[in-house]
This record gives sequence, structure tokens and C-alpha cells, in this order.
Amino acid sequence: MSEVQTNQQFRLAARPVGLPTDADWQLTEEALAPLEDGQVRVKVLYLSLDPAMRGWMNEGKSYIRPVAIGEVMRAGAVGVVTASRSPRFQPGDHLSGAFGVQRWWTGAVDENSGVVKIDPALAPLPAWLNVLGMPGMTAWFGLTDIGQPTAGETVVVSAAAGAVGMTVGQVAKHLGCRVVGIAGGADKCRFVVEELGFDACIDYKEGNIATGLKQHCPNGVDVYFDNVGGEILDTVLTRINMKARIVICGAISQYNNTTRVTGPSNYLSLLVNRARMEGMVVFDYAARYPEGVARLAQWLREGSFKHREHVVDGLENFPSALLMLFEGKNFGKLVLKVADA
Ligand SMILES: NC(=O)c1ccc[n+]([C@@H]2O[C@H](COP(=O)([O-])OP(=O)(O)OC[C@H]3O[C@@H](n4cnc5c(N)ncnc54)[C@H](OP(=O)(O)O)[C@@H]3O)[C@@H](O)[C@H]2O)c1
Repeated sequence: MSEVQTNQQFRLAARPVGLPTDADWQLTEEALAPLEDGQVRVKVLYLSLDPAMRGWMNEGKSYIRPVAIGEVMRAGAVGVVTASRSPRFQPGDHLSGAFGVQRWWTGAVDENSGVVKIDPALAPLPAWLNVLGMPGMTAWFGLTDIGQPTAGETVVVSAAAGAVGMTVGQVAKHLGCRVVGIAGGADKCRFVVEELGFDACIDYKEGNIATGLKQHCPNGVDVYFDNVGGEILDTVLTRINMKARIVICGAISQYNNTTRVTGPSNYLSLLVNRARMEGMVVFDYAARYPEGVARLAQWLREGSFKHREHVVDGLENFPSALLMLFEGKNFGKLVLKVADA
């Protein structure tokens, strides 16, 4: 069978102001480069769409360099090797890596490449972008390493029905905590409680968060895993306990601001309660991912852990699919299907 000759990719055309628009992307086509020694060719099957991608489109200092104008948009992905000139991987192997928003990835796969082999027999491929992938690792290490909850404590997590949130809550339940989610809408709240086993969920679009926290966290909040920032973070700060731990994982409510970020005005609650607020970046734990994968895979195998993906079909839908994250339209980890296996 002759190998496909052309690639298709989304490149960053302009730095967005506020929500990204179609004008911020350029869909390009180019010939595939010949394979060099040490490289593999990967057919991209599923792309991970992540809130962090919005940050990577901005100029300025961050935990990772911005995507350059004209560059293929950075994205985590899973795919299958179709050709190899590396001893590490063979055609037919399934890999996970930062393959970008494109149909084909060609690159070197040395130990530092971040490209790893995954086992589709353990979990379906989209789950390798969720519970067994970057969001799962964020939840596992953010909660256990920074949040450090102990049995009997109360853990609150926002964006609870999303990729990171659903794993945070389930890990906390496995650790014996009382778990309260915050999510947008009755369906998401029902899922979090009835399917994932959280103790309660506050619908921030319907109810009052302060009232909900008072009702569902009668003993206060020991760990708050913050995925959204803004007003929700500020409100949770009013309910924290002595020595509480606030994990600053993300602030999706602020990513498309065209004005200044809304910071927590209730921060003196940290002083009063001798509490700690600490940021985390999942990539710092890259060397320990196998540890996190092993634990979460064990719970999956035992049937005591769930995952949910929201799959959108077609590379051409990338610009509109990405926006779903900021409108709460994804129900589960948002994944873009690029090709059939
Ligand atoms: N620090 C790290 O290393 C790291 C790694 C991965 C992810 N993160 C962060 O973790 C957070 C969750 O990421 P994810 O991949 O799991 O996404 P996700 O939760 O699967 O999807 C995003 C969800 O955020 C909620 N949301 C959107 N706009 C909101 C707003 N204005 N106010 C409140 N909620 C809003 C929506 O849920 P509702 O319908 O419930 O509103 C939406 O479905 C993000 O902030 C992301 O940047 C950080």
C-alpha cells in the first residue's frame, strides 16, 4: 500500500482577543516530508482539546512557550505508527504525544520526545487523552501531591463534570473524603452524583454557590481543587477550614478576558485560616506519570472508576469544537476524532 503523501494542519494565524475566531486559524496542506533515521510517522486518530490551548495562543511568559504565528497548533493526541525508522516503535504501535492539530505527525521519538506507547486493550483510545492521559495526571498529582486530602476531609472541585474534575472527585472518594462538585446545569450535576458517586453537586448556573456550600459542606472545606477561578474561587474561600489547601489548577472563567483577571478578593481567608493556595502544572510530574497511570488503570480494571469523553468528529471542526470548552458545551473530556483507526 503506498503511503499517503499530504498532511493537513491548523496553524495559528493571529493571536486572539477574547474568544478565538475562525480568522485566528489557517487550514494548510503540505506534502509529507520523507522519514529520517530515528523518526516515526504517526496517523493522528484523536486530538485532545484543552482549555490550556487558549493560553498557548497568547504572547508572553508562561509555563510553556507560546505557539508561534504560522506554527501548527500544539495539541496532545493519540495515533498509530504507520512507518518507523526508530528501534523504539513499530508500525501498528499506538502512541500518545504532542502531535499537534494535524492529520499526520512525523518526528524523532527519543526518550525526551514525550512520545509514549499506550495500550488500547487497557482503555479505549479517547480515554488515553482523559483519565489515563494529561487530565487524569493533573487530577491525580494535583490532588494527592498539592491537595493532600485525608479520609474524612471535605474536598470541593469545580468544573466537576469535566476531564480533570471528574477524576479529582473520584480519586477523593477513593481516599475516603466527602466530595462536593460544582458544575453548570442539572444534567452535569446529576451525572457527577449518580454516576461518579460524589456526595453532592452545586449547579452554579441555577443556585447560589455560597448557600450550596453551606448546605453540602457542613464541616467546611478542607481542599478546594480550583479549575475555574473568578467568583467561584472567591466564594469557596469564605468556607475554608483551618489549614485548608487550595489547588490552583486552572481558571477557565478568566482565559478569554479582554480586561484584567478577576482575582480573589477574599484572600485574607488564607491568613485567618493559616491556609495554603498553590499552583500546579502537570508537566512537572512527567517523570511520575507511570505511577499515576498505574493507580488509575487499576481502579478502571476493578470497575470502581469511570470516565466520559465527548467526541466531536472531523479535523475541520477544530475551531468550533475548541470553543465548546468555554461555553460548557462539552460533557466529559473533549476529544476531536481525526481518523478511523
Ligand atoms: N495546571 C495544569 O497542569 C492543568 C492541566 C489540565 C487542565 N488544567 C485546567 O483545568 C481546568 C479544567 O480543564 P479540563 O480539561 O478538565 O476541561 P473541562 O472541565 O473538561 O471543560 C471545561 C469546563 O469548564 C467549565 N467552564 C467553562 N467556562 C466556565 C466559567 N466561565 N465558569 C465556570 N466554569 C466554566 C465548563 O463546565 P460547566 O458546564 O460545568 O460550566 C466546561 O465544560 C481548566 O482550567 C484547565 O486549564 C490545568
